[in-house]
Amino acid sequence: MPFPDSRPRRMRRTESLRRLARETRVEPADLIYPLFCVTGSGVREPVVSMPGVSRLSVDALAAEAKEIESLGLAGVILFGIPDAKDAQGSGAWDDDGIVQRSIRAIKDATPDLLVIADICLCEYTDHGHCGVFDGHQVLNDETLPLLAKAAVSAARAGADIVAPSDMMDGRVAAIRDALDEEALDQTPILSYAAKYASAFYGPFRDAAESAPASGDRRGYQMDPANEREAMREILSDLEEGADMIMVKPAMPYLDVIRSARDLVDVPLFAYQVSGEYSMLRAAMERGWLDEERGMDESLLSIRRAGADRILTYFAKDYARRVRS
Ligand code: PBG
Repeated sequence: MPFPDSRPRRMRRTESLRRLARETRVEPADLIYPLFCVTGSGVREPVVSMPGVSRLSVDALAAEAKEIESLGLAGVILFGIPDAKDAQGSGAWDDDGIVQRSIRAIKDATPDLLVIADICLCEYTDHGHCGVFDGHQVLNDETLPLLAKAAVSAARAGADIVAPSDMMDGRVAAIRDALDEEALDQTPILSYAAKYASAFYGPFRDAAESAPASGDRRGYQMDPANEREAMREILSDLEEGADMIMVKPAMPYLDVIRSARDLVDVPLFAYQVSGEYSMLRAAMERGWLDEERGMDESLLSIRRAGADRILTYFAKDYARRVRS
């Protein structure tokens, strides 16, 4: 039925018609808010490169968690910033470590708020790499038991989900085995299956003090040029026992999100990372980009590409607005 019988503009005439025809929505319950946890008390320290985001001490987490729960978000993902780092990253599996204490504080304040623990060593190692570093490269198989210990420790502290973000080969199987051995067989794994070696993690590394002291992460994170390889990573993580998968970053990899959506039926997550947030915020602060529309459109694009849930630093601001 060609023009003039077909007139797509008919359904765009009013907001109620547009709402009727809308294919994709973003709800607060689709969004996960990342939290940076630090030691000390009464700390609420703004991250300069990420306007609106702060690093919080454990005692500040209860109020934060209550606010997040009342906003109806899907949950939080925790990143710990320890006081002391060492070559192995032993703070990651310290049962009294920063993330473990943070998980307990949130679960005390809000038992029903979903808590995801990011599992990686880079925040805990003095060299800043995501695994055992021999001065030249990150050793894969030597890293696996350390990640497994970190996952067990986080799950024991009360994390609802563990989310390995290191990109070692075989880490999902290693973590699954270790959890099962500790009677934590009901703890799901959200795998950062397709995580790229991205410039867009820059502001996060400031916030988490996790930049590698030497070299970069291209020996373990994925090459930004590759889409087919992401499908291989996703399938192998699912075979190893991942319950959910993630693509990260989000906006520069919408094609990868779409391919992942077409490939698998498990819950699919996308991480709108620090650099995506900072770039949008910087333009919004200058008045170059409309804040609400920029936020909405960026989140919508990620949902439209096929992600079920989005990890985003906009989560609280978005929920505040759509709920008011
Ligand atoms: C830890 C980790 C990183 C991010 C999430 N988990 C940093 C990195 O891989 O360098 C990035 C998140 C963001 O940029 O918002 N490995």
